[in-house]
Amino acid sequence: MDITYDVSSKCWILQMEASTYCIGLSEDSSSLQHIYWGPRIASEAASEMAHASVPLIVPFESPTGVSREEYAPWGEMRFSEPSLKVEYADGTRTIEWVFEEHGVERSGAGQTLWLRFRDQAYPLRVTLYYRIYDGHDVIERWVRLENSGGGGPVTIEQALSADWQLPRRERYRLTYLYGQHMKEMQVAEVVLGPGKAVLESRRGMTSHQFNPWVALDPEASATEESGEVWSAALAWSGSWKIVVETTPYGEVHCVGGLNDFDFRYQLAEGEQLDLPAFVGLYSNKGFGGISRGWHAYEREHVIPEALDAVRPILYNSWEATMFAVTERSQMELAEKAAKLGAEIFVLDDGWFGARNSQYAGLGDWTVNPQKFPHGLNPLIARVNELGMRFGLWVEPEMVNPDSDLYRAHPDWVYHFRHRSRTEGRHQLVLNLAREDVRDWMFATLNGLLSEHNIEFIKWDMNRSICEPGWPDEVGQNPERVSLDHVRNLYWVIDELRRQHPNVEFESCAGGGGRIDLGVLSRVEQVWTSDNTDAFDRLRIQEGFSYAYVPRVMMCWVTDCPNFSTSRTVSLRYRFHVAMAGSLGVGGDLSHWTPQELEEARGFIETYKRVRPIIQNGLLYRLRSPRVGSVAASQYVAQDGSEVVVFAWGHSQQFGQTPVSLLLHGLEEEAHYADAINGATYSGAYLAHRGLPMNLVGDFDSRIVHLIRTPSAQ
Ligand code: DGJ
Repeated sequence: MDITYDVSSKCWILQMEASTYCIGLSEDSSSLQHIYWGPRIASEAASEMAHASVPLIVPFESPTGVSREEYAPWGEMRFSEPSLKVEYADGTRTIEWVFEEHGVERSGAGQTLWLRFRDQAYPLRVTLYYRIYDGHDVIERWVRLENSGGGGPVTIEQALSADWQLPRRERYRLTYLYGQHMKEMQVAEVVLGPGKAVLESRRGMTSHQFNPWVALDPEASATEESGEVWSAALAWSGSWKIVVETTPYGEVHCVGGLNDFDFRYQLAEGEQLDLPAFVGLYSNKGFGGISRGWHAYEREHVIPEALDAVRPILYNSWEATMFAVTERSQMELAEKAAKLGAEIFVLDDGWFGARNSQYAGLGDWTVNPQKFPHGLNPLIARVNELGMRFGLWVEPEMVNPDSDLYRAHPDWVYHFRHRSRTEGRHQLVLNLAREDVRDWMFATLNGLLSEHNIEFIKWDMNRSICEPGWPDEVGQNPERVSLDHVRNLYWVIDELRRQHPNVEFESCAGGGGRIDLGVLSRVEQVWTSDNTDAFDRLRIQEGFSYAYVPRVMMCWVTDCPNFSTSRTVSLRYRFHVAMAGSLGVGGDLSHWTPQELEEARGFIETYKRVRPIIQNGLLYRLRSPRVGSVAASQYVAQDGSEVVVFAWGHSQQFGQTPVSLLLHGLEEEAHYADAINGATYSGAYLAHRGLPMNLVGDFDSRIVHLIRTPSAQ
């Protein structure tokens, strides 16, 4: 990994593990041009490309307007999606900038290139950052905006984090993740023609509807394990926007960052604003290569302390007891969960205030004395005695109108004057952009963590933000709340983590509504979906794995018939699906038969043996649940010594045996033994003849654990 500046061609070359990125200044230093992003090439070849770049000439257009800019400030003859649009205090609304200086900084395993531009006539400085890491092909890009003073505030109307220019090819296919509550992370694809594809959230949160992650491959040529793919993901948990634009002249670029819809930010004199990172990744090993690239980056550089540690087995009582939690019911569940082998016990919604249903109590974070007459400590002590850590559910950004908090502070929620306060799940959203709300939130949670031995927080958010008004701030730039809400949310979590380093966090938003690189840098795991139907989960988990590492994907085994789909499948199938990520149990254990409890104990024991491979290994998606009647995934330990394969059959037809699974990432000459039945295969056999899975009937499933046998010499 290295970043160099080539003086002769005025270009910067970023050399990564298996890819190269190159950018250069235009002749007059007034724009930063994209030169190359693709497989690793010699730096001389990159600089040759920079020397050879000639501006595109299009009648009726300016050369700058149709050029491949790394970050396009609105102005000149630019008509495609810009990266930055501001208004200066005197009403001027375009930017004309010049390059000022650059530098490269090294820290730990990373190197950061920064390039500073300044407006020629107004007090705005824009610094573009590019950070790369040893052993990776990701480029983190972000931007710092600074009002250098002397000209009044600078109003930011659109400020995206990066513009990724793609190599010129015929047509690109865009792959992205869409969904809804209970149906997150569905994989969609579309071949792009001229025009824009816009993916966004206007909800103040990452959203179930679209996830801020995209992949692009030319002429739909990539497969799961081959072909070139360019991908980008945003580190932001609020309203966001990604625009993939194919210009009429055949240039494709992908620009993303904060959503400019209903947004304005006044940058005061002397103030700086750091925009969230929009991270890019290239692989020529298909969608599997892209996913493994994202997973490795997340484990090593995003998720707190994720490198080799394994995630614990979690029990969550939500589906078992819903709001009817009591000290006794939770202790009984805790005892059963501990016997199964659970390592964290999480008390979900319903433990506080007058929270007996969705209608009341949110905001009143004091223990309900009817349900827990002696507070939470007796339950926590019992959970600890049983050898588990105690976790607690909170939803700090919300308030029910029927709560003491709302009665005391009706002005603390987002609202506009003379307008409705639209409730979602009977709740309103606290205006976390307010400092007093932020301080109250921190003090409340800090109090809970200080008074109890809580070692895990499930942080939920069960509705989108709407009507984001702040009447008292009219005239003071209340249109910045979508940014400040997330900044303050991050601040509260960061500060809690700092003061309580033993506490782990799970991000949840009615299931998977807040999963992104931004929140992942401050939580250990996420709640994937409220949909716990094992068959539906296969597709949710598949989409999830495109962008995010399985170790953070919390998967519970719950009861059948499933509460949301009424489907009944075997306990074994449910476990096998949930074992493909970070395993949890969410069923009502008081109704499980002794045989079921025993069976579950066995699965958990198996999972504990293989979890380092699943959580920290290399994932190969062998068969998609979207195609055919068998889905399968393979995980290979980082050192190649162990392999885990799951196959999940949907329905067997005509008595036909499903084909064997061709495995990846093995040494052909090595031998691998099945840890359960001792059968031994050569790597070549598994790669070319395949592992037989022998699934029979409907909803059958299997796990195979292979261990590389020591070589003969
Ligand atoms: C939504 C979450 O996704 C569920 O797991 C549960 O915590 C409920 N909220 C509680 O209200």
